[in-house]
Amino acid sequence: MSDEMIASVLVTGSSRGIGLELVKTFLKRSKPPQHVFATCKNPTGAQELIDLDKKHSNLHIIQLDTTNQESVKAAYNEVKEILNGRGLTMVINNAGINCGLSLEMPSYEQMMMSYKTNTVGPLIVTEEFIPLLKQATQEGPKDKMCCSKASVINITSELGSLSKIPNVFLSFPAIPYSCSKAALNMLTRLQAETYKKDGILFVAIHPGWVQTDMGGPQELKKFSEKHENVIVIRLDSTDSASINATVKQVEKHLNGKNLDLLINNAGVLNPQSLETQTAEDMLQVYNINVVGPMLVTQAFHHLLKRYGEESNAKSAIIHISSLLGSIEGVPKMFSSFPVISYRCSKAALNMLACCHAVGYKQDGIISLAIHPGWVRTDMGGSQALLSKEESVGEIMKIISSLNETQSGTFVDYKGIHTPW
Ligand SMILES: NC(=O)c1ccc[n+]([C@@H]2O[C@H](COP(=O)([O-])OP(=O)(O)OC[C@H]3O[C@@H](n4cnc5c(N)ncnc54)[C@H](OP(=O)(O)O)[C@@H]3O)[C@@H](O)[C@H]2O)c1
Repeated sequence: MSDEMIASVLVTGSSRGIGLELVKTFLKRSKPPQHVFATCKNPTGAQELIDLDKKHSNLHIIQLDTTNQESVKAAYNEVKEILNGRGLTMVINNAGINCGLSLEMPSYEQMMMSYKTNTVGPLIVTEEFIPLLKQATQEGPKDKMCCSKASVINITSELGSLSKIPNVFLSFPAIPYSCSKAALNMLTRLQAETYKKDGILFVAIHPGWVQTDMGGPQELKKFSEKHENVIVIRLDSTDSASINATVKQVEKHLNGKNLDLLINNAGVLNPQSLETQTAEDMLQVYNINVVGPMLVTQAFHHLLKRYGEESNAKSAIIHISSLLGSIEGVPKMFSSFPVISYRCSKAALNMLACCHAVGYKQDGIISLAIHPGWVRTDMGGSQALLSKEESVGEIMKIISSLNETQSGTFVDYKGIHTPW
């Protein structure tokens, strides 16, 4: 596809993620389209699009909720007016939702909402814009179907592929999403048949597993593809429904076996000083750094307990804490790291680790808090002293020689006792 070929393109769901990237990429081309219609549900909230609009006169931000026929019709009228007698070359049906992952059969609402957004949305958007697409076929190359003449791209997903189900279902049990994308694939084939005579090209594209709000972390997926004992499961540690769904998936993978180690690693740091600290941030950080580990541990407790009962060995909970949660360490280190919500949350996490140590002792479960050192991650920054490999290498040594005497302690990555 050469640069001069796309005269105009419309993208749905372009406020963020893949849709926003598509818009940016079209605008960056050496010969960009004369019109890029970036459509989204809520244009006033799409700040990145608004910023782009200031630099690109060929960009048009248009309100379009793909589940609302009135909104689709209004968008059509606006686009038609801007095109001023010309056709529309390309429609990209990108807007989509994923209601989450669960092995439980979904609710009526989840099924209907997914179908409405991921299947019916692309249908009504395409049907509305067909007159402009047909017109574009009269303006583009005469002989063949191609993107530069008139085309509709439906952004689908490999989770809609029936033949891939046995491999991907346990890792990505997104039932409403998968069904709606399978239906979108069928729709694409039927549209292709229907509009063949008009010369409009239809194609369904799986964009890959992408780091967006919907896609999550890709590095982990690549890693899991190389190691069959690594299973990627989505978990929001502050959401009970997400935790319960994760427990069910873990149980299914364990297939009757139990869990011997739980590492509560998820955490956030918002650099707020005594002057800037807000109540909202204080609660949010506490929710992620303390309530999350509490809920996750509660949900996995039965599997950790059963491990001890059935194997006569100890299971363990590791809470990844921080030296900044050490109250005794405050006088020495406060001025270098005056991060209030983070410090308070990690002090509370240490308390939780102790409560688990005492409360779950009779269940044969060890619990301790570990300070991983100052590590070069997004949170630690580039000036930090340790690489991730150095820190994790040392933590693994602690884990491999864990025993009951360490339960209820707070140690650093070298296993040295850290003051409370
Ligand atoms: N990310 C992946 O790994 C992956 C993999 C396979 C397929 N896909 C597909 O790629 C497409 C884009 O996904 P993404 O990862 O970029 O997701 P995302 O970051 O969650 O963005 C989804 C976009 O769709 C919009 N949207 C949702 N419902 C809409 C509606 N009724 N009307 C208009 N816009 C609506 C959202 O708008 P608001 O901001 O207003 O909510 C947002 O702009 C989806 O069709 C998805 O199924 C993604």
